Amino acid sequence: MLLSHLLTRAGIENIVIERQSKAHVLDRIRAGVLEWGTVETLRDAGLGDRMDAEGKVHETINIAWRGRELLSIDTADVVGKLMMAYGQTRIQEDLFDAAEALGTTVFFDAQDVVLGDLTSDAPNVTFDIDGESCRIDADFVAGCDGFHGVSRVAIPEQLRTEYEKVYPFGWVGIMSETPPLPILLYANHERGFALCSMRNPMLSRYYVQCPIDDQVEDWNDDRFWSELIARLPPVQAAQLVTGPSIEKSIAPLRSFVSEPMSYGRLFLAGDAAHIVPPTGAKGLNLAVSDVRYLSQAIVAHYAGDPSGLSDYSAKALRRVWGAVRFSWWLTSLLHRFPHQSAFDQRAQEQELFYLSSSRAAQTALAEQYVGLPFES
Ligand code: PHB
Repeated sequence: MLLSHLLTRAGIENIVIERQSKAHVLDRIRAGVLEWGTVETLRDAGLGDRMDAEGKVHETINIAWRGRELLSIDTADVVGKLMMAYGQTRIQEDLFDAAEALGTTVFFDAQDVVLGDLTSDAPNVTFDIDGESCRIDADFVAGCDGFHGVSRVAIPEQLRTEYEKVYPFGWVGIMSETPPLPILLYANHERGFALCSMRNPMLSRYYVQCPIDDQVEDWNDDRFWSELIARLPPVQAAQLVTGPSIEKSIAPLRSFVSEPMSYGRLFLAGDAAHIVPPTGAKGLNLAVSDVRYLSQAIVAHYAGDPSGLSDYSAKALRRVWGAVRFSWWLTSLLHRFPHQSAFDQRAQEQELFYLSSSRAAQTALAEQYVGLPFES
């Protein structure tokens, strides 16, 4: 939807084909922390009004470990940038509203989507809606259909290289209509990782690390809250306001990259090409940076410069790998791994100690957390 919006504003006709219903898309609870480059991309696209009114600016990244004092990194101080808490679901609403205002065609509930003639100058997409066959002929196809979509696998297997790391744990996440802690807080604890986040002043988002095979039914609200509280430092544990969860789910953690991100006239963006564990809050931000690069390359193509599209995959992957490496590193730093040896444990503690005592280490973390710069 963001790619469509950027293209429409540049006068380039486009059509969006969505497998799910609009209600389903608006119902899903997804990411919530925006890099400053994402904030500026949305503002520049005319999508900043509600985000600026309702989003909460984060000035610090906070890490609690071994029950000691909180390590608080002031990102404005160390790297001159901030982050914003504003839910992906809200961005999705803003994009649907904008699409309606601009008259964009969006097909929902599209089934049996097939991409055709991708290596020709005239690719097409066929699909069914309510049993009726549709076909769209286009100059380009953007595969923004997530990890389980049809786009990535439309690239012949022998032309794809996949890199994957599956972590031996998951996150149980809940949403509750309770006031959040005033800060975004990550906790490394002997019982496992925990995270306190927010969506707005009366909507909190919390996560705790759980064994990989756990089911949602294993985690009633009482168990969730007592486990979360046990993993927080005393001050935050005392501040926490609990209440009934309004959503609860378990997500496995995985890193995945498929290269290249283009094939003929097909260009992949976001989770269709890469997955990061949620620890660094990078998934949505990477999708935005892919789409930013792709929209610029398509606009340049119609202005007579084809080089942006031929460079798109390599350029996008440079930024993707930056975020993939960072998310892997932060995941390794903050979680308790099954069978973690005493050596691994001491090395992890030493890394946290180094981080809490070195401005250089804090700068390196913050620079990646707030988002590496975009290439021009
Ligand atoms: C969230 O608010 O959902 C969230 C925040 C920070 C993360 C991951 C998820 O690192």
